[in-house]
Amino acid sequence: MTETITIALSKGRILTETLPLLKEAGIELLDDVEKSRKLVFPTTNPNVRLLIIRATDVPTYVQYGGADLGVTGKDVLMEHGGEGLYEPLDLNIARCKLMTAGKVGQPAPEGRIRVATKFVKLARQYYASQGKQADIIKLYGAMELAPILGLADEIVDVVDTGNTLKANGLEARELIDHISSRLVVNRASMKMKHSALKPIIEQMSAAVERRR
Ligand code: ATP
Ligand code: PRP
Repeated sequence: MTETITIALSKGRILTETLPLLKEAGIELLDDVEKSRKLVFPTTNPNVRLLIIRATDVPTYVQYGGADLGVTGKDVLMEHGGEGLYEPLDLNIARCKLMTAGKVGQPAPEGRIRVATKFVKLARQYYASQGKQADIIKLYGAMELAPILGLADEIVDVVDTGNTLKANGLEARELIDHISSRLVVNRASMKMKHSALKPIIEQMSAAVERRR
């Protein structure tokens, strides 16, 4: 019996960088995702379908078996916690750094500080590990606004070129972790669909190695 494999991909920059890796594993989209309103896409492999969803939802779909495989950022995986997931492969794409940042020339005050971020759990763990007391404020985007408008002393966000921070009068401070996108696998699928998943994981791994 041929099993259907469902792969959850993050839309946006990760999707653009993941599709060439999947192509080298023999999996190509049949539709133009930019023009389609579909959420589930057939591929050139009749046994493989793709879900194209928000990065933050990928671990949840894979954890609960809505998808067998997924691709999302390490930042998102750390915030999710990784329950129910294997993480067999660093795809070495969408590389950036998770950092703290604040207003140029305005160091965080001594004692308790306010931190705005969408990575609430991660930020709480990080400041605790540094022995700093932090009140975490949850935002869903445009974190850079928070220090400018006096909402927070610092933010925790991903930084690549640093242009977004610079354009908003902010500076990067501490490095929390290096980030790249990872392949994740549902733990039950890894056992039940092992023979179907193994070649996909191996071919993606070979594609990553060829790029190193
Ligand atoms: P959502 O659409 O759910 O709000 P998002 O806006 O964070 O998600 P993206 O900006 O595409 O979506 O980011 C997805 C992932 O790509 C992040 O979780 C991170 O791992 C990585 N990433 C984010 N910004 C950058 C960047 N500037 N350079 C490289 N990688 C990045
Ligand atoms: C991401 C992130 C930062 C920016 C960092 O935003 O949230 O704002 O990239 O990149 P930089 O250091 O090269 O400027 P993105 O461009 O994905 O937009 P978003 O806020 O819609 O996620």
